[in-house]
Amino acid sequence: MCGIIGYVGSKSAKEEILDGLKMLEYRGYDSAGICCFEKGKFSLIKKKGKVATLVEACQGQLKDVHCGIGHTRWATHGDPSDKNAHPFLSENNSVAIVHNGIIENFEVLKGSLQKQGVRFRSDTDSEVIAQLLQKSKCESELKKVQELSTLLKGSYAIAILFKGLENQIFAIRKNSPLIVGKSKDGFYLSSDVNALVDKTDEYHIMEENEIIWIDNNDCYAFDEHLQAKEIVYNKMNLTKQDISRGAFEHYMLKEIMQVPNAIKNTIQECDAVINPYMKLPREMIKELRHITIIGCGTAYNAGLTASHYAREREILVDCVYASEYRYRKFLPIENEICIFISQSGETADTIEALKIAKEHSIPTIVVTNVASSTLNKLADFIIPTKAGPEIAVASTKAYNAQITALYGLMDYIYCIKHKLNCRSCILKDKLDDVVKKLEHYSFKKVNELADIIKESERVFYIGRGVDYATSQEASLKLKEISNIHSESLYAGELKHGTLALIDEHTTVIAIATQKSLFDKTLNSIYEIKARGARVILVTQFEVDIEAVDMLIDLPCTDQAIMAEIAIYPMQMLAYKTAVLKGLDPDKPRNLAKSVTVE
Ligand code: AGP
Ligand code: GLU
Repeated sequence: MCGIIGYVGSKSAKEEILDGLKMLEYRGYDSAGICCFEKGKFSLIKKKGKVATLVEACQGQLKDVHCGIGHTRWATHGDPSDKNAHPFLSENNSVAIVHNGIIENFEVLKGSLQKQGVRFRSDTDSEVIAQLLQKSKCESELKKVQELSTLLKGSYAIAILFKGLENQIFAIRKNSPLIVGKSKDGFYLSSDVNALVDKTDEYHIMEENEIIWIDNNDCYAFDEHLQAKEIVYNKMNLTKQDISRGAFEHYMLKEIMQVPNAIKNTIQECDAVINPYMKLPREMIKELRHITIIGCGTAYNAGLTASHYAREREILVDCVYASEYRYRKFLPIENEICIFISQSGETADTIEALKIAKEHSIPTIVVTNVASSTLNKLADFIIPTKAGPEIAVASTKAYNAQITALYGLMDYIYCIKHKLNCRSCILKDKLDDVVKKLEHYSFKKVNELADIIKESERVFYIGRGVDYATSQEASLKLKEISNIHSESLYAGELKHGTLALIDEHTTVIAIATQKSLFDKTLNSIYEIKARGARVILVTQFEVDIEAVDMLIDLPCTDQAIMAEIAIYPMQMLAYKTAVLKGLDPDKPRNLAKSVTVE
């Protein structure tokens, strides 16, 4: 979380940094701040709240500035407040820093600095970085920055200004992303590529432990031993249109409307004559006995959905949350592969889980939406999703793209294992049908349902088999952006406990897309209705059931991939409910898009 931006160049550093912070705001919005060199001194402005508050505070300030750093915060240590907002200055105002990550040993470092008489101004872990740099005895600034990597434990992307070195920015990273942008008007630092669109033509993804020194018109890279490195620049291929809200009221709405395209573009990528699946060694697939799918939040849910598809193809899959995988006892399974799913490719838990799999020599495949991401750099094989930039905190189109890519992968594995011709696979036709149906989907009923849900105290989503996976994702969407308490349950599990919570203030949304399980889910519906709750049924089957208060009907497609369709109205339901409650669905409380801390 947290967005970092830095700029050195001929343009106004204030404008460039504030522009960048607006683009990075989805990463955190507890506070925002900026520090620039102004007439040889640091000018620092920082405010609790969203970037708009900072923009207001900067009016008429920072008039002729060409070098500075900015930050938009998602608090981990210390409450959201002016004093805990970044940037931080060292005690004697000789160093300014912004930080993304967690300094795990900050208490020890802070204690020892306090013993030396250093006074701290904030409750954050980050401030210790500025104080350490001030206290450093190293002879050059570059060495001081290098020394940080020997002192700090945890994760960090840090941008640094030293008093007296006007027009210079230093940066270092470990386990948190940082990108350098190059343009004819100067150099940028940014937590992600999106904030550099329309600003730079080229960007460099900083490597683990890399140190960057931007000196006026040039940029230099060093490894952790201060050996000079070549900087590899990539061409910027995103456009302003890709990352703007356009005519849509919110990013989330734009991204829901882009779901059909996300599926279409991902099929195209995966169905190309040279497709990403073909890069997987045939021997590895033939020998494969077990897959562990790992991810967080929506990405995990995509894995869960695909695991049902895999099971139908006799592929053994387990799904584990990355935050659990990284700390559970490791047990070797012969001929296992691990698949890591992540929209951003920057989720700290998922990255750490991948490192563990690699330590045990398990082949790793990542399914990610961001080509420049850390996960892509670390994995053995990459299966890209083509959802396009996803900005809203609540993930929507990335989920559909992820399950699309995973369906393709499971079919590929099945074909190799059964010596079938992979190109004769009919998945593409089936997904084309899904795309068509989603493009014509009417949300009329969903709007009516949102009106009801907005008044609900609790919402339970139930389903069996793959419908449970959809329930899980539907429930996550609702709770995340509407602040309504919501849980997902296996329909058959209700009677083992949760039924006790069902009363007339409860709404239950039952998802039933699998013919063989339909009657079983219906039994659960009757049990719920008997306890007075309101029941909504989401299905493609024609039904006329008295126990159901409202029917959300789905267009019909191949049952195996109905999850692509069933989630669509549920994504919109969460969006509409949040909007009706007057909440900003793009910036849900306490959350941020990219979770780069543990
Ligand atoms: C989704 O709506 C959530 N905001 C969240 O669960 C997200 O899916 C999770 O943090 C994983 O992110 P990733 O896909 O970028 O790894
Ligand atoms: N730990 C720092 C803070 O709380 C940075 C948090 C982050 O990167 O999310 O301010």
